[in-house]
Amino acid sequence: MNNKQMQVKYSCPSNIALVKYWGKKEGGVQLPANASISWSLSDLFAETSMIATQDEGPKLIFTFKGEPKPSFEPKIIAFLERISQYSDFVKSHNFIIDTVNNFPHGTGIASSAAGFGALAMCIADLEGKYENGSAEFFERASFFARLGSGSACRSVYGKPSVWGEHDDVEKSSDLFAVPFEKEIHATLSNWKDCVLIVDDGEKKVSSTEGHALLDNHPYAAARFANAQKNISKITSYLQSGDVTNFIALVESEALQLHSMMMSSIPYFTLIRPNTLAILEEIWAFREETNLPLAFTLDAGANVHLLYDKQYETEISNFIDNKLLVYCKNGLYLCSNIGGTPQKLA
Ligand code: DP6
Repeated sequence: MNNKQMQVKYSCPSNIALVKYWGKKEGGVQLPANASISWSLSDLFAETSMIATQDEGPKLIFTFKGEPKPSFEPKIIAFLERISQYSDFVKSHNFIIDTVNNFPHGTGIASSAAGFGALAMCIADLEGKYENGSAEFFERASFFARLGSGSACRSVYGKPSVWGEHDDVEKSSDLFAVPFEKEIHATLSNWKDCVLIVDDGEKKVSSTEGHALLDNHPYAAARFANAQKNISKITSYLQSGDVTNFIALVESEALQLHSMMMSSIPYFTLIRPNTLAILEEIWAFREETNLPLAFTLDAGANVHLLYDKQYETEISNFIDNKLLVYCKNGLYLCSNIGGTPQKLA
């Protein structure tokens, strides 16, 4: 018997949170304790091809850049098994998957958001339950991506993405991200992100372990409440173009994330001396020039430098003259903000 075979390929951007997801609700897989909002990073993406063969599934052959990668397989099998509870298509297919990132491996850049985002797009497309391009289609892809990694569910939209229930954001949900549909003010609609690579090693504590430490965290309730308030504030700044308050809030969110790590029991740190050195340089440069730039951090030592693209020359000089010395092997990677997943085949 010749079993039916289907094939598809997608690229999907990575994303960086402005208000952070850190802590999960009980009672489900990757339900966020608070709402988060992110920008997608169009120039840092994963490309994933998928061949689905009708058979009792889900079974998997996985390669990374065409080479076997056994260490990635358990996470992807767990992901397919989770999805199979919601999708008869996944339950009744086997998968051959190959994925590649356009950014170098081992830069400490979280590749899971782009990777699970691309996988989720492939599955939503092949499943064919909703018309490709419809709001339901993207919600379904985002829902699937969440089951791989929470932050991945925010990677399927080009607009700022909100994940987690919030009164101020229409249709927001803990189950999938939604695009933030309100118009973004011109002063905040054309920014860039340069990721300054401080540490390219394996993280001491994975995001999943870090989230779990919020369960008995002395400050968890206050943090979650503050994040909900910060969503109200940042969505208002994005619309009004209040760059000064936007910057202050984004930086505060990054530091709150890391202070939650430092006050977990057991406590841990992911920032390194060079991370702090870069923050000091950014503050000094902003004081001196008044230019609109901000840092944010993900769960690692690298610094995301966010800035208004019209000051590209000044910021690029600043990076070369002041920040490069703190970057591992002088490495940094820049991306435009925005960008949607693309169907490649
Ligand atoms: C610090 O999405 O990687 O980047 O849901 O357990 O896979 P899991 O965690 P993950 O956590 C990312 C946390 C963060 C903040 C954010 O992206 O909002």
